[in-house]
Amino acid sequence: MSPQVLTFDPKLQGSLPSDFTWGYATAAAQIEGAWEEDGRGPSIWDTFSCLPGKIRDGSTPSDACNGYHLWKEDIARMKEYGARAYRFSLSWSRIIPLGGEADPINEAGVQFYSNLIDELIRKEITPWVTLYHWDLPQALYERYGGMLDKERYTADFLRYARLCFERFGDRVKHWITYNEPGLTARAGYAQGRNAPGHASDTEPWIVGHTQLVSHGYVCELYKGDFQPNQKGCIMITLDGNWYEPWDEKDPRDVEAAERAKEFEIGWFADPVYGMDGECDYPASMRAQLGDRLPHFTEEEKRVVQGSSEVYGMNSYTAFYARHLQGAPSRSDYRGNVEFLNENCNGKPRGPETDTHWLRMAPWGWAKLIRWIWARYGVPICITENGTTVQGEHEGPAPAAPGEIVEDPFRAEFFRAYLAEMAKAYQEGVVIKSYFAWSFLDNWEWALGYTSRFGVTWVDYASPQKTRYAKRSAFALREYFDFFIAQ
Ligand code: BGC
Repeated sequence: MSPQVLTFDPKLQGSLPSDFTWGYATAAAQIEGAWEEDGRGPSIWDTFSCLPGKIRDGSTPSDACNGYHLWKEDIARMKEYGARAYRFSLSWSRIIPLGGEADPINEAGVQFYSNLIDELIRKEITPWVTLYHWDLPQALYERYGGMLDKERYTADFLRYARLCFERFGDRVKHWITYNEPGLTARAGYAQGRNAPGHASDTEPWIVGHTQLVSHGYVCELYKGDFQPNQKGCIMITLDGNWYEPWDEKDPRDVEAAERAKEFEIGWFADPVYGMDGECDYPASMRAQLGDRLPHFTEEEKRVVQGSSEVYGMNSYTAFYARHLQGAPSRSDYRGNVEFLNENCNGKPRGPETDTHWLRMAPWGWAKLIRWIWARYGVPICITENGTTVQGEHEGPAPAAPGEIVEDPFRAEFFRAYLAEMAKAYQEGVVIKSYFAWSFLDNWEWALGYTSRFGVTWVDYASPQKTRYAKRSAFALREYFDFFIAQ
């Protein structure tokens, strides 16, 4: 056993069930590249990345990690890392280049994913498929504003989903409709930092609603037409970090921390998991946003409530939350809360990484897992968790083929977070999966290639995007060997 494993509480050994799912997650736009190959149509991220000043290093995802060509060797590598499952997303515009319900299918795109799925199954790695990880077909944005038009968008998303269930559902048993609908709405329509780059005080709430409703209809479609034969499950993945009161003795900060979680998580989870038997947005959001927050029709309530049987959890870090004085500004989308790196006693939230918002904070993750379980009471599937490492991007690139990159900080991050997850499991929280973000260093959206989240180093300068394992990949495997009952 390595020194890291020896630091685990021996009582946690074998604490996770033998069928526990663990593996790695990626997203199409971040790894595939080949953005114009074999008939693929552009997505809003392709267009957005070409606008001046939008991406930190001026890059585009045109070739990303060359995953479109290296998928076979990537799967072999994943096998070597011991992964039991792989969560990846489909590029909608690779499958239907123009995206719409009456638009032609690109059979080459379908074939690409079909081959990938077959290879995973051959290697006994279970595919988990995300239908939408932020890369809306550009044509739908141009046609009717994408998610701003709930009716037309939902019809198009339903047809795309149906096609995926028809073509892949015989082999794919784990479906995720949306990855982080809150991020799509906030960063894309309020902050303007993500595609399509809007800064509005009404659109985020419309876009959030469109995602919830279209998610509901896709779940209904799957459960009605496919699940009886295919026997898979369908869910949504939500982003959410932990918010701790800046001053735990100040009730206004205690409330602010709770409100921050409601604006981030409750926004989607309350309607889906039916808080108090109701399908509605949190009261704190309605109080602040009034009628800018859409109202669910009876029909929408029917399809949204209970649509997802498990909670898809993406989480990385924790913040201290302090209430803001005075009435919230109209452009506020966080619940009139300020997020801080230290609490009122100067206690930092955790060690820094290469990513401004991300600090290592396993203490917050431990609390968040319990908060979700207590509030929603459905099994939790952890679909993303991971970190960048301070200085890793600027640090020396591996020089020799096969060299292993040392990343002790990332290994420690996984060690600490997994130990908290195992403790929560032992206490009775039902947790079914853990996917580390990410398998490869990849194109980190508006941060371009500057934030390395992978357990595999990618040499972006090399034409092939050569890969090198990092030590944390082997550490993660070792940790799961410890935690999972043999
Ligand atoms: C997203 C990923 C992203 C990761 C790290 C999540 O919000 O789903 O696409 O790369 O966090 O920022």
